[in-house]
Amino acid sequence: MLELHHVSKAYAEERQVLSNLTYTLKAGEYVAVMGESGVGKSTLLNLVAGLDTPDSGEVVIDGVVISKLNDDDATLLRRKTLGFIFQAFHILPHLTLKQNIALPLLLNNMPAHRIELMLAEVGLSGRGDHFPHQLSGGELQRVAIARALVHRPRLVLADEPTGNLDPDTAHDILQLIRTEIKKNGASGILVTHSHTAAATADAVLIMTKHGLRKAESVRSG
Ligand SMILES: Nc1ncnc2c1ncn2[C@@H]1O[C@H](COP(=O)(O)OP(=O)(O)OP(=O)(O)O)[C@@H](O)[C@H]1O
Ligand SMILES: [Mg+2]
Repeated sequence: MLELHHVSKAYAEERQVLSNLTYTLKAGEYVAVMGESGVGKSTLLNLVAGLDTPDSGEVVIDGVVISKLNDDDATLLRRKTLGFIFQAFHILPHLTLKQNIALPLLLNNMPAHRIELMLAEVGLSGRGDHFPHQLSGGELQRVAIARALVHRPRLVLADEPTGNLDPDTAHDILQLIRTEIKKNGASGILVTHSHTAAATADAVLIMTKHGLRKAESVRSG
């Protein structure tokens, strides 16, 4: 599903973030990535999403080298195949919640039939016609999650998706992300600082400056 081949990324010569990182994520595999702040977790997700390009090495999604695609093809692949849940969510303020959640469907010419279901799954039934300014920060994060999953992406990338949420809501949201990934046979990467959150994935990877290695994990729930 996702292959990283000798991926390196530096932001300046003295700022080597990823060096020679190689990793394969299989179809249907859901992993958590933990590691200290600044080690490069968000950088890694940005490279996988094609939002940034590696200095060397290749990011391959379903056999396609994304850094070799032109901008249009990269956008199409991203739109169809990926679901992003980033902590800095980008909910559009002038659209209702329903309209925000419908965006990935609209962009992919897919029917708009899962919107109410997704609203219900993130606990926001009946609020589809509200505008983002009528919601709390945690509720907005749930809208971002509904939007990221509505088009059943094959690869879900989540960067601290529950950082803004109380523990109970965080638990529910993490279960929802897992359930959606598994139901759709998708793959996923969950970046988190929380061991509890990480335990909802199939496996936990620890990121250090030397790369990614598997940690022991016992999945909860
Ligand atoms: N656009 C940028 N320009 C310069 N340096 C950057 C840029 N983006 C990230 N960095 C640096 O690269 C390193 C890795 O950043 P990254 O955001 O990937 O870390 P992280 O593992 O996600 O950390 P956190 O757990 O705090 O979110 C950090 O030292 C950061 O300061
Ligand atoms: Mg980060």
